[in-house]
Amino acid sequence: MIEVVPVPLPGRAYEVRIGAGLIEDAGAQIAPLLRRPRVAVVSDETVAAHWLPVLQQALKAQGIESTALTLPAGEATKGWPQFTRTVEWLLEQKIERRDVVIALGGGVIGDLVGFAAAVLRRGVRFVQVPTSLLAQVDSSVGGKTGINAPQGKNLIGAFHQPSLVLADIGVLDTLTPRDFRAGMGEVVKYGMLGDSEFFQWLEAHGSSVVAGDRAARSHAVRRSVEMKAEIVLRDETEQGDRALLNLGHTFCHALEAATGYSDRLLHGEGVAIGCALAFALSARLGLCPQEDPSRVRALIRDLGMRCDLSDIPGDLPGAEALLDLMGQDKKVVDGQLRFILARGIGDSFVTSDVPRDTVLELLREELDRR
Ligand code: GLY
Repeated sequence: MIEVVPVPLPGRAYEVRIGAGLIEDAGAQIAPLLRRPRVAVVSDETVAAHWLPVLQQALKAQGIESTALTLPAGEATKGWPQFTRTVEWLLEQKIERRDVVIALGGGVIGDLVGFAAAVLRRGVRFVQVPTSLLAQVDSSVGGKTGINAPQGKNLIGAFHQPSLVLADIGVLDTLTPRDFRAGMGEVVKYGMLGDSEFFQWLEAHGSSVVAGDRAARSHAVRRSVEMKAEIVLRDETEQGDRALLNLGHTFCHALEAATGYSDRLLHGEGVAIGCALAFALSARLGLCPQEDPSRVRALIRDLGMRCDLSDIPGDLPGAEALLDLMGQDKKVVDGQLRFILARGIGDSFVTSDVPRDTVLELLREELDRR
């Protein structure tokens, strides 16, 4: 069964289609968008090895010719050199303004290809075929595209909405357990930030999602995408509410920087740890019920995810240094750190009004527990 979540942005409306087998059916799904039967596909080596032939066969079955570029897998791809290569390759392939580019991969490929599509001939359409859980529930939806700069992650980019998102949940079966659980960091984030019923659903059914139950996975992806779509509709360019999607991210970005963006800590793992810290900070400031941080941690732990600073292997810098790393986050406004805190599970808000000493005290205690 295919579930459809509409993203009805005026003039740029599109659908997120969720279901098993969507890559095998991609030709039929994408054909109505095309003005000529020809597309360019960009993927990475890991994803392409498994899914590129399936996608190209599905396109061919509908008479759609495709040409493909395969980039190296990994975060290092998301910079100027591979971006330039992609844009120039698309020009060599004579991709025209009315054509469609397909991004087949996780967040790195989706962000890079979306940005290439945004600037190629001042903007061509693109289709996201996200192949990680994180990309399905977060990065493929909402039009944030871009690459990393030496000065930081995602500092170069554009808002460019896809024309279609095909979230094939069958692909999730091929992820490593660690990658799947990292993606769950973004899924639980949605319940914590804005939907206490979804949080309760995850408490009851999250283990089925992790275990591979298709119906449970479909529900988890759909509800996450619905929530993301609702927020993007309210605030496409992050003037306000869209920042709520960054629950846990102020801590996460500091931890990612402290671990060198290496596989010591995957982004979704940092989000889960960051959410636990955001609730601990909210309780410490008297903003949310004192039992909420334990409930948040229990869910994260029950789903087998990393939850504490002690779950990060190797050394971490001290509390002051971590706070300094938070100060380099994109979300700093006028030098003020912005946090997403919570009045309760499912009720988050954005604030710059957090005493530095309280954050330091929390970080010190968490680091001492390592
Ligand atoms: N990943 C956060 C956002 O799309 O706004």
